[in-house]
Amino acid sequence: MSTAKGIDYFTEAASVESVNARMSEDADPRLRQVMGSLVKHLHAFAKDVELTQAEWATAIGFLTRTGQMCDGNRKEFILLSDVLGLSMLVDAINNRRPSGATENTVLGPFHVEGAPVRAMGEMISLDGKGESCLFEGRVLDLDGKPVKGAKLDVWCDNADGYYDVQQPDIQPKWNNRGIFVTGEDGAYAFRGIRPVSYPIPDDGPVGQMLAALGRHPNRPGHMHFIVAAEGYETVVTHTFVADDPWLTSDAVFGVKASLLTEFVAGEAGDTMWKSRFDFVLNRADPA
Ligand code: BEZ
Ligand code: FE
Repeated sequence: MSTAKGIDYFTEAASVESVNARMSEDADPRLRQVMGSLVKHLHAFAKDVELTQAEWATAIGFLTRTGQMCDGNRKEFILLSDVLGLSMLVDAINNRRPSGATENTVLGPFHVEGAPVRAMGEMISLDGKGESCLFEGRVLDLDGKPVKGAKLDVWCDNADGYYDVQQPDIQPKWNNRGIFVTGEDGAYAFRGIRPVSYPIPDDGPVGQMLAALGRHPNRPGHMHFIVAAEGYETVVTHTFVADDPWLTSDAVFGVKASLLTEFVAGEAGDTMWKSRFDFVLNRADPA
């Protein structure tokens, strides 16, 4: 730091200290920790790559366009976090579970609160498209006992690879969505379609970034689940179609080996496919 009149001005060498010293001792301690570390790593990054003025301007323009693209339906900043692997990292840090408990994966931008509660076995696909599939299994605790009253909130894209909220004028409302509540046996069953792979929205800055990096925007076919029951940690997850070609290069890094599910041929007269998956819930920390 330079000290012409005993004042510490900004220097390249002591850039982190210059910025972090401005934080008040009275600021929230966690905020001080998070911002102090952010500044440290941000400056280290700029020094590591010797960030040029033009690159800095490009980054500012990119972030500005990312923000401008956001509204109630389009969550471009979450998409950015997703494709950088940050969403999955934060999810992993915050959802460490004992072995045997069902693992989380990314929530994604297409969950909608308030889906209709449906009867067990009911069909969630309302547009008549796609290959029909029976999804079934149980919700269990770590001792293998059924969990009664577990709420499964499920959603997926349609056979054309779009969620209902992406095509409000084309798809029926609540297409491929529903809530199912388990009884004494912890069992669930519903009918839908075999999920198809789809590209994440790539007509904005995040899509341009992926293209510039030679990355594709595709996600392997999956069914989304939020499984919640009183006294247990809520699981936000998907089941993945086990032979999907995009499994090993999911654009948002959401695939986990424990979430792969075989889709087997259904019985004559019922659905074309069947998919079984048991969810195992971890007890919530009473604190
Ligand atoms: C999804 O699976 O719905 C999703 C997740 C992350 C980004 C885009 C879509
Ligand atoms: Fe999805």
